[in-house]
Amino acid sequence: MSPQRAIPRQQVLPIPPPPFPQNDPHVNHGAVFTRRWVVEFILDTVRFDPSEDLASKLLVEPACGDGAFLLPIAERVIESCRQHGRPLTEAADAVRAFDLQAQHVDRSRRLLSALFSESGLDDDAARGLAEAWVSHSDFLLLPHEEETADFVVGNPPYIRLEDVPAERMAAYKHTCTTMSGRADIYLGFFETGLRLLAKEGMLGFICADRWMRNAYGKHLRQLVIAGYSVEATVEMHDAEAFADAVAAYPAVTVIRRGTQASALVATTTSAFDGEAAAAVVHWARRHDEAGSTASLRGGTKVARLPGWFETDSSWPTGSPQRLTLLRELEDRLRPLESGSTRVGIGVATGADAVFVTDDPLVVEEDRLIPLAMTRDTTSGLLNWGGKYLVNPWAGPRQLVDLAEYPGLKRYLGRHEAALRRRHVAGRRPEQWYRTIDPVHPRLTPKRKLLFPDMKMFAHPVLDPGGHYPHHNLYYVVSEEWDLGVLGGLLMSKVAQFFIEAYAVRMRGGTLRFQAQYLRRIHVPEVESLSNEQRCVLRQAFADRDVESATQVALEAYGLERPPD
Ligand SMILES: C[S@@+](CC[C@H](N)C(=O)[O-])C[C@H]1O[C@@H](n2cnc3c(N)ncnc32)[C@H](O)[C@@H]1O
Repeated sequence: MSPQRAIPRQQVLPIPPPPFPQNDPHVNHGAVFTRRWVVEFILDTVRFDPSEDLASKLLVEPACGDGAFLLPIAERVIESCRQHGRPLTEAADAVRAFDLQAQHVDRSRRLLSALFSESGLDDDAARGLAEAWVSHSDFLLLPHEEETADFVVGNPPYIRLEDVPAERMAAYKHTCTTMSGRADIYLGFFETGLRLLAKEGMLGFICADRWMRNAYGKHLRQLVIAGYSVEATVEMHDAEAFADAVAAYPAVTVIRRGTQASALVATTTSAFDGEAAAAVVHWARRHDEAGSTASLRGGTKVARLPGWFETDSSWPTGSPQRLTLLRELEDRLRPLESGSTRVGIGVATGADAVFVTDDPLVVEEDRLIPLAMTRDTTSGLLNWGGKYLVNPWAGPRQLVDLAEYPGLKRYLGRHEAALRRRHVAGRRPEQWYRTIDPVHPRLTPKRKLLFPDMKMFAHPVLDPGGHYPHHNLYYVVSEEWDLGVLGGLLMSKVAQFFIEAYAVRMRGGTLRFQAQYLRRIHVPEVESLSNEQRCVLRQAFADRDVESATQVALEAYGLERPPD
């Protein structure tokens, strides 16, 4: 490796953070140690292989702890040097490992040094090599040289940002742009690791997989789909991956810098162990054609997808078989929101006590819009419950001039203090009487399908026109679809399959039917449905007959049976 590719070990911190408490049992450093077979699995999956000249590569271990990764890494480097006829001292720049805690650094160095001595180095050389490999520093705050590493592997710490001292957290957010909101610091390890990768370099982490679906992972997902290839995700929620039992929803995730190629997906059970992991590696090396799926030992399921899901909104979840089907349907069909079809959310007011009323005389008549609420949709037909939205908008971007509406002016004026206290009014004091979302006057008369958010099953309800949806209702409008036919399609188990893949199920099994998930539904072309299929779907929608809707949907999607 050329000297300029080495990661500097003398660091200048961009923002000097306060010293991190060492050896304090009350401070959470996120130390959870990885079992040996998991480390071997990751090294195999990123192809850190002794048959390669590993002394000429750079591997980074960002948070080495007691050396769970470093020892197998060192064994592979030693073997590689032997196979390539190199002295081990030439591997001084092959590995850079870091840890925040001095005792972990000492222990890792001692273990490495003993291994290097055993393999023939004298004590000084062994100690020197171990010191060259392991640094006592904060991985997230180092001014790393980007695009230098061939491999980044490890088990980053899981510590919610709110558990990190405030100044250090600010420093992390400053250097890691994907860390926002209530992110966990492992996001910063992904980001920094990914930026370190040279072209075609591979990152392999065992880490919580929540970022793939949660709001706080959005920026990291954006980073990944913009310049990387998701090579493998192996869900290991029930496997015993760590020395201590922890509830962390771990997965092995492997990401390469380069254009997206096929992706290996696997789900495992509590029986997943070293042998089962080796079987996955074996299968993956022999099956690079997209569409292959298999059930392996111990209930492990694997599939090779033709690519990854190029969305930053949320990555799907499900068995490898379901993900294979999802990918196939997404490639073949069009997203629900295309052509003239649009998905949206109802209005959030920020002050329902003021903006939602059942008194039709409270302001001028043309300032009131019948408001469709979730409870109006329970029966499957829209039964308007008599609530109105007090509408302060003249158009989607313009509030009415209160001078023109004395009744509205009087009414809102009575609540002015409360309305001004809202965050949305604080940011734009002249718009103190706005609702959080603007109201689009053209939406009210349109026919639309309304979807209540939290439900076990999709529950589309037709608004024949005349209502504006409240914020827990999402809506679909379309010129090209007969909404009765589309309603039938969207209440089928096939449409449900898309939602199940993308929406995080809540406790009790409830699904979210928010716009971002409804947009993931893919549908056949309108013209591809026969007249008979349209009739049955329309009838199924009217009768709330999910089975009959599903039968026709299966035909329309070209599927033999509902996805299991
Ligand atoms: C989950 S443990 C993993 C250790 C080891 N890689 C393994 O798999 O067994 C995470 C380690 O990260 C270290 N750590 C926490 N924050 C760090 C940071 N900002 N930079 C470097 N190391 C950090 C902790 O001290 C701990 O040893």
